[in-house]
Amino acid sequence: MGPLRPGELIHLVDRKGRRYPLVLRRGGVFQFSGENLSHDDLIGQAEGIQVETSRGTRFNAFRPTLAEYVLKMPRGAQVIYPKDLGTILLWADVYPGATVVEAGIGSGALTMALLRSVGEKGHLTSYEIREDFARRAMANITAFIGSVSNHTLKLQDIYEGMDEREVDRLILDLPEPWKVVPHAVEALRPGGIFLCLLPTVPQVELVMRTLRSARVFGFFEVFETMLRTWVIDGPSVRPDHRMVAHTAFLTVARKVASRSTTYLLNDFSESAPQK
Ligand SMILES: C[S@@+](CC[C@H](N)C(=O)[O-])C[C@H]1O[C@@H](n2cnc3c(N)ncnc32)[C@H](O)[C@@H]1O
Repeated sequence: MGPLRPGELIHLVDRKGRRYPLVLRRGGVFQFSGENLSHDDLIGQAEGIQVETSRGTRFNAFRPTLAEYVLKMPRGAQVIYPKDLGTILLWADVYPGATVVEAGIGSGALTMALLRSVGEKGHLTSYEIREDFARRAMANITAFIGSVSNHTLKLQDIYEGMDEREVDRLILDLPEPWKVVPHAVEALRPGGIFLCLLPTVPQVELVMRTLRSARVFGFFEVFETMLRTWVIDGPSVRPDHRMVAHTAFLTVARKVASRSTTYLLNDFSESAPQK
């Protein structure tokens, strides 16, 4: 990566961990509560360098991680939080070389996580119905990872259908994923994974009923992730007072090869004793 360069997006981070994004420009000036910091003091320096504004406020300069970037980037739609992004990548088992479809693209947070994980040999297709959101997302993606050759954006309603076949992973972050289940039956390869995010229990119940009645899915999992950060400051060792608690329930299903096998799986999971 080397020293900080003009044109790069960086975050200035203050003592309290507050972040201020900026794109470095020769001759540029960062203004903060009446204080100034010249971009030229940062260009050519090593990442992490500490700098002072005209009145002595200190910041460290870093290239943001993906988790940091998604929380600060311009948003069209609500983004998926980092705690869920990380979980999705493992529970949907997004691997280098995978063929993945997602909907909708929103602000592009999940898109970036998926593009990194499928790598250059994989492919991601993103469905989105709102052109303004798609434009915003593509700008966010380009600003963070540059131009990519393994991404297809479709300005299409995924409820109407999917052209893709032999898809390895299908990841849905939209209000009515049960409307995509009939298309997922055709699009996913045997062993493929369906994953959706939903904020409420009635939505989860409906998607689960739809998945079960499709009779090609099994190995269902429904869960949410909680991330509770802690303060470690001398004798003060305790959980933070605030946390992002509920974001979404994740529903995961595996497409199994034959309808008869799935039928047995579904029967078993319906009648399994409650623990
Ligand atoms: C919550 S946002 C997705 C956020 C995104 N996952 C992210 O991390 O930035 C939901 C998106 O789904 C899109 N959407 C809703 N219904 C859709 C449909 N039928 N087909 C395609 N996209 C749809 C919305 O326009 C919106 O951009």
